[in-house]
Amino acid sequence: MDGTQQQITQHRVRIGPADVRVFEDGAALAAGAAAMIASLIRREVTKARAAGGRLVSVAMAGGSTPVATYRRLATMDIPWSGVCAWVGDERYVPPDHEDSNGAMIGRSLLDGTGARFLRVPWAEDRSAPEAAALYETELLASMGGDARGPRPDLILAGMGGDGHTLSLFPGSDALDVTDRWYVATEVAAAQRWRLTATYPLAHRAAAVYVLVSGGSKAAVLAEVLQPTGDRPLPARRLMEGAAPVSWLVDRDAAAGLDLP
Ligand code: 6PG
Repeated sequence: MDGTQQQITQHRVRIGPADVRVFEDGAALAAGAAAMIASLIRREVTKARAAGGRLVSVAMAGGSTPVATYRRLATMDIPWSGVCAWVGDERYVPPDHEDSNGAMIGRSLLDGTGARFLRVPWAEDRSAPEAAALYETELLASMGGDARGPRPDLILAGMGGDGHTLSLFPGSDALDVTDRWYVATEVAAAQRWRLTATYPLAHRAAAVYVLVSGGSKAAVLAEVLQPTGDRPLPARRLMEGAAPVSWLVDRDAAAGLDLP
């Protein structure tokens, strides 16, 4: 067990289908999430190497919340050469753009680790849908799976203040996609065109970790995990498939939950 995991206190609770782990604050959340991610990657890389050597498939989360976790992971001994990392969602911008999730992930963690890191194939003369189709093909070729499709080993995701996750936004046409694993979608948020894993892909993951931090997310996290409305928010729909979803949250983000 990684030392940090023993030092980190957390309150673990089940809320319906959700495995919820509440950490004291943002720093404890970063340490706890890093310990969980490191433990899963070490375990799965060991298994994969013993079974022929496929790369373990890990979707990295975008946005700002995971940065502290990535920086923590960057200090840990992790067999990145056994990992194929990709972006759970991406803004359709040049690879060195300040809003690029791939650039953030590389800068804060993956650059120089030896991980295979699949970046979205942005090009000046390539539309977002064209890039999504190319990336989907590359992902399928990189990932293990079965007759029903690909099976990521781990998907890391965040949650926005409107209950979106990945780039599956309320009202988005991507919410209803059933025949694609990765698509382009237009959103009314920063960077109009996004590329995102779809629910079919997220639902097939062996594990999903959603990282949520800060009091500004408390109300929407409560609605996601203990819904009062009649339509589930996009983040809640991550739990509609077979993938076990763990919500790694800090106490401020959990403030709106009715915890046993
Ligand atoms: C993105 C992310 C997005 C993010 C949430 C939370 O590209 O913006 O993938 O889904 O996880 O918007 O963002 P913060 O962590 O910055 O609050």
